[in-house]
Amino acid sequence: MSNLALDTDSEIVDLEEGDVAALGALRPVPRISVQAFCETESVANPIERAASDRRMTKAHVKVHMGGVPTAIEFYQSAATPNLIILESREEPRQLIASLQRLAEVCDQSTRVVVIGHYNDVWLYRELMRTGISEYVVAPISMADVVSVIAAIFVDPNAAPIGRSIAFVGAKGGVGSSTIAHNVAWAMSTLFTSEVVVADMDLAFGTANINFDQDPAQGIAEAVFAPDRIDEVYLDRLLAQCAERLSLLAAPSTLDRTYDFDAEAFSQLIDTAQRTAPCVVLDVPHIWCGWSKTTLTQADEIVITATPELANLRNTKNLVDTLRRLRPNDPPPRLIINQAGVPKRPEISIEDFAEPLGIEPLAVIPFEPQLFGSASNNGRMLGEMDAQNAIVQSINEMAHVLTGRAESRQRKKSGLEGILERLKIKR
Ligand SMILES: Nc1ncnc2c1ncn2[C@@H]1O[C@H](COP(=O)(O)OP(=O)(O)OP(=O)(O)O)[C@@H](O)[C@H]1O
Ligand SMILES: [Mg+2]
Repeated sequence: MSNLALDTDSEIVDLEEGDVAALGALRPVPRISVQAFCETESVANPIERAASDRRMTKAHVKVHMGGVPTAIEFYQSAATPNLIILESREEPRQLIASLQRLAEVCDQSTRVVVIGHYNDVWLYRELMRTGISEYVVAPISMADVVSVIAAIFVDPNAAPIGRSIAFVGAKGGVGSSTIAHNVAWAMSTLFTSEVVVADMDLAFGTANINFDQDPAQGIAEAVFAPDRIDEVYLDRLLAQCAERLSLLAAPSTLDRTYDFDAEAFSQLIDTAQRTAPCVVLDVPHIWCGWSKTTLTQADEIVITATPELANLRNTKNLVDTLRRLRPNDPPPRLIINQAGVPKRPEISIEDFAEPLGIEPLAVIPFEPQLFGSASNNGRMLGEMDAQNAIVQSINEMAHVLTGRAESRQRKKSGLEGILERLKIKR
């Protein structure tokens, strides 16, 4: 395996588990401008890191050093942004006096967050009374920064935003779409919750075949008319596949080519997330501007791979790249599919997972009879044979991906740990 670049990435900064969970629950921050004036690197750094978090991609953030005096100087001549973040090491009374000077150059609509070094109740009350949006005591983490900004700018009365789960194959034909469709179906039937599937493989997508649908319109309509997309328009493009499952089908024709810019699907995905609690994105196996954006922005990523070398190399590259692009998110999920093809030499599950540092969420055996008859009949696996072990695995994936249960793999490894200890005793 010497041709594989399998070195582990040391650049990734470890986040506390609580931080990852807190961030996971946050909704994206809107297009606001933020300027920060810091006195210490230990406050400037988490703000810089927050600025590159995927939930902050729409916000425009600039970090200056220099604290309140620099801000006052700066806004003598410049307009104030939507949010100013100020770090100050001044003692409470001095800080209040400095902020009063800032207020003279600050627009009424600008919100101000202060990061101070005094944990002082009088100061906190005084700041709130003067209209400061939040006072946070240093040290702060990047998750604190994103949370504070989201608390101010994400409207708590807005409709809740759905979770997006992007499925992508490590190679063509590994079964990524089939798994995406079946997991989506399981989510909609098990949890009686609305699910939208978007087939992003415009030229060759198979969701229409798998769900036995032949809609006149679908995802192409939306992506070629981004200005028209709103919830009502999207609703008209959805094909109903099951009681709570609807599909944005691909045209699966070649009359035109499908070259899109990097943000082409963003509006569509945003809108879908406002209409359904769960949006499953069937992303084709390509690496281009919009596929990269889609994967980077998704709440969860599921990579499907078969246990052979090119899949391992591609999975490793995907995992490393996505970890770099999403440093504040858990790594992508891994599904090993089509395991145990007769007479095919395969990489063992342990050898496949080890260089990735990811336990597979599921290992699905090669079952041509079940998969073949399901797709030929336009039925889901759960409709063909609800008791099949593969269907149980798919149901379990649906649980984990909607945050309802942890992977059985992990529980099993706990049990293995106990067995290991028993062995040693003997
Ligand atoms: N575990 C399995 N056992 C047997 N056949 C399978 C299995 N998983 C998927 N298949 C079959 O493999 C074929 C390819 O699946 P699918 O179209 O879902 O793959 P894909 O990764 O989305 O491919 P593409 O690169 O074309 O998007 C389908 O015919 C599907 O029924
Ligand atoms: Mg596919």
